[in-house]
Amino acid sequence: MSATQLITWIVYLVAAVCFVMGLHLMRSPGTARRGNLLSAAGMGAAVLITVVLLLDSRSGVGWHGGVFAGIALVGGLAVGGGYGWYSAKTVKMTAMPQLVSVFNAVGGGAAAFVALTDFLHRMSLAGDISGAFGVDALLPVEFSVPVVLDIVIGSVTFTGSWIAAGKLQGIVSGNPITFAGSRIVMGASALLAVVAGVWTIAVGGNTWLLLACLVGALTFGVLLVLPIGGADMPVVISLLNAFTGLAVAMAGFVVDNEILIVAGALVGASGSILTKQMADAMNRSILSIMVGGFGQGDTSAAAAAVAASGASLRTVDADDVAIQLAYASKVMFVPGYGLAAGQAQHEIAELGDLLSAHGVTVYYAVHPVAGRMPGHMNVLLAEASVPYDEMKEMEEANPEFDTADVALVVGANDVTNPAARRAGTPISGMPILDVDHAKSVVVIKRGMGQGYAGIDNELYTDPKTGMFFSDAKKGLASLIGAVKEYLD
Ligand code: TAP
Repeated sequence: MSATQLITWIVYLVAAVCFVMGLHLMRSPGTARRGNLLSAAGMGAAVLITVVLLLDSRSGVGWHGGVFAGIALVGGLAVGGGYGWYSAKTVKMTAMPQLVSVFNAVGGGAAAFVALTDFLHRMSLAGDISGAFGVDALLPVEFSVPVVLDIVIGSVTFTGSWIAAGKLQGIVSGNPITFAGSRIVMGASALLAVVAGVWTIAVGGNTWLLLACLVGALTFGVLLVLPIGGADMPVVISLLNAFTGLAVAMAGFVVDNEILIVAGALVGASGSILTKQMADAMNRSILSIMVGGFGQGDTSAAAAAVAASGASLRTVDADDVAIQLAYASKVMFVPGYGLAAGQAQHEIAELGDLLSAHGVTVYYAVHPVAGRMPGHMNVLLAEASVPYDEMKEMEEANPEFDTADVALVVGANDVTNPAARRAGTPISGMPILDVDHAKSVVVIKRGMGQGYAGIDNELYTDPKTGMFFSDAKKGLASLIGAVKEYLD
């Protein structure tokens, strides 16, 4: 082992520790930024030492010569890193899921490319670029297995992630897209990928078979995501993120690079846990999301319950709400998707600060799947500098509603719907925020639009609920003005 290789190995080890510690810090909003920086620093160090390793011709691992590798790496770093930095800086918070999906696509695609080029390189060295059937075994199983897995997982991730990003961006229809025989074509493409992949391994490497496997996996990725509705995309993106990690780990086995294996395994494991947590918090199985279509429950049950209650809506205006807030001792804010859509995070924070400054206890109740991506509300509230100790996760927030004077729901719907407590509705079993336990409830939303689950909300006809029909941003701005009048 040369000195450069030894130093590289040590830097890889330090980078791996940074990734693990970074992930640990990301468990809480207060330390997440530090965790992100620590992980990024680890990755930066790993990339830099890899450049040094490849440039160091004495190390004997330079591929096609150190200088060529160096130009490719520095060029790639400048273009990829530059674009990544620019897009992450300029992306709107509501477009973040699409950006993550694009990053998944390039990650999975790059991992598949690594396997493909290494495979072709080894095949050409072995003199079988034509890849005719029936040749003697050329490549060992321990090489061809990760190559095939990398090609399959990376290719599915590549095309699936582009379709997911297109759906969220509105370039591809957000409705489930199917055509006559689409499930059969999907099954056939999966079969092609598996059979051609296994065959590639069995014959010890064959270029045409591997290309058939690649085509099957690319097609499967497209047909897997097209039938899934746009609202389910965040869960799909999280799953594809886990796939990216697996593909990268496989690429690590292909090129014998430890840090790729470690980083890929961490992304694969954490992505899988996140996907499971998101599905659980929506009370759905990952399988039911992947086969498409929300709502196996009876959507009419919630509507019937609302109608049967015989209750009518009670509307309130800014003045009515301002009086309640100004004279309350404890107020619970409940942000939801409408807060993000209306970009009203700064207004809710301003109202919270105003009330806190006048001695009102203010908490923000954050449901794990409020909004459309994991941590959506945490990110929005952090952007508006809401103090972390005022943000309460669901388990902590629910007991607080019992002693709250007002629960102010801003653009949240499903995560507050008491229908979840009964059997037979699409959200049955989904844990919800106990908003209806507060003494008084105010809901800010534009009209009677349903949420993601597509059902009516029984909370709105509860006699203690006042409906303040307004866009979140405008409604909160008018509340700030009205509350100031009562407090000054
Ligand atoms: P939703 O139930 O989706 O309801 C959002 C409400 O916001 C709508 O009813 C809409 O009513 C209102 N709204 C929209 N734009 C608004 C604006 N500009 N101002 C004020 N209100 C506005 O939201 P939620 O309670 O946050 O629940 C999230 C849902 O998404 C859950 O069902 C969850 O399972 C699902 N989901 C979440 C995730 C993640 S990871 N967070 C991923 C996938 C699915 P109006 O049109 O009447 O205004």
